[in-house]
Amino acid sequence: MKSFTYYNPTKVFVGSDVLENMGTTIQKKARKILLLTGKGSAHKTGVYQRVLDILRQSEIQYVTYEGIQSNPLLKDVQEAIDVAKKEEVDAVLAIGGGSVIDSAKAVAAGFFCEDNVWDFFHRTKTIKNSLPIYCILTISGTASEMNGTAVITKQETNEKLSIKSELLFPRATWIDPMYQSSIPTNQLSYTAMDIMSHVFEYYFAGYHTYFVDSVSESIMKTVMYAVPLLQANPNNLDARAEFAWAASWALNGFTACGRGYGDFSSHRIGHAISAMYGIAHGQTLAIVQPAWMRYCYICDIQKFARFGRELFGLQGNDEAVASDGIFRFIDWVHSVLGLTTSLSDLGIRAEDIKKIAMNDSIPYPSGTLRSLNQEDVIHVLRLSNF
Ligand code: NZQ
Ligand code: ZN
Repeated sequence: MKSFTYYNPTKVFVGSDVLENMGTTIQKKARKILLLTGKGSAHKTGVYQRVLDILRQSEIQYVTYEGIQSNPLLKDVQEAIDVAKKEEVDAVLAIGGGSVIDSAKAVAAGFFCEDNVWDFFHRTKTIKNSLPIYCILTISGTASEMNGTAVITKQETNEKLSIKSELLFPRATWIDPMYQSSIPTNQLSYTAMDIMSHVFEYYFAGYHTYFVDSVSESIMKTVMYAVPLLQANPNNLDARAEFAWAASWALNGFTACGRGYGDFSSHRIGHAISAMYGIAHGQTLAIVQPAWMRYCYICDIQKFARFGRELFGLQGNDEAVASDGIFRFIDWVHSVLGLTTSLSDLGIRAEDIKKIAMNDSIPYPSGTLRSLNQEDVIHVLRLSNF
């Protein structure tokens, strides 16, 4: 095991009616909040109204910013920062998934920024302060509710970049599985793929640790267990909670312990595809991750063999099990998640591959298991274009 520091200050409430303590929790830090939401699902599920009722009962004032889109945009973040500054709020509350929570984090940091919040994303300025952040998670997948990362797109330059700071961990997150039972099947598949990919980014980063590898496998098995149950019955709240908790742990810092850094090439290439074509994050990963696995597994046959044995019960020599495990995984993505692994199915042509590889969302060299340059990324994308 490599040396590590584990830090996670987010208080997480999971279960039915957990929202009951929201008012008293937020009251300790804030009298006036900025409430951020997406395009409308929070209204449809009733969670939005419930939150307003609680805020009123707790005498917490609020202003709202609605309409955050998937793959959230810098321009919305900037507008929301203006609202937060004008209204002198003292906390931000996100109701939604990764897109709304990431926007809330960027607003919380941008509140204290005199210049352009995008400087934080280019790492030319460091985040020194943040408003307290609270989350009501309505779709599990990204783990943004329990980490200090935010990913935002600047449309004008087609860049999708991240910030990361200990100051951006949410103070508290509420996950009531009932408010997730309306998630459509395609979004369930995207988020399932995202969770698997978060695990892979560390599991296949090139370092072995018995304990953390075993927990990582448990997270993957939980996703594979819960998805068919949720497809059969979206109101299965027990499976919702299992899926949600696995999602939070896939990227809350734990799976990084003892390994040094994660690989994250698949995520960066995926971000380039989202930035250029607006494709859902999980769908980009369904395209890139299997191709990346095929391109890179040769660098750690032993780990890919462990994956094949643990996840799919395969037997045989390392070389055969490592490669069969990847194809069993691809088959799961097709047959259970119903996602394509092919760029061309999304209308992206072979001649566009070079442009994706040149997008600024991918810093070079990229990755730890195999350090990729632009030519490597072109090879990976060609593998996904079958
Ligand atoms: O906008 P609304 O109407 O709310 O609809 C959303 C959206 O269309 C819908 N939805 C959310 N809760 C629902 C619901 N529909 C029905 N019932 C509910 N209860 O779901 C759609 C997707 O929402 P979104 O927040 O975009 O999804 P997700 O949570 O997957 O977030 C994706 C974003 O997070 C970033 C991604 O890059 C992407 O921009 N990521 C953030 C990370 C982080 N902060 O650590 C790490 C990840 O790797 C990822 O990069
Ligand atoms: Zn992700």
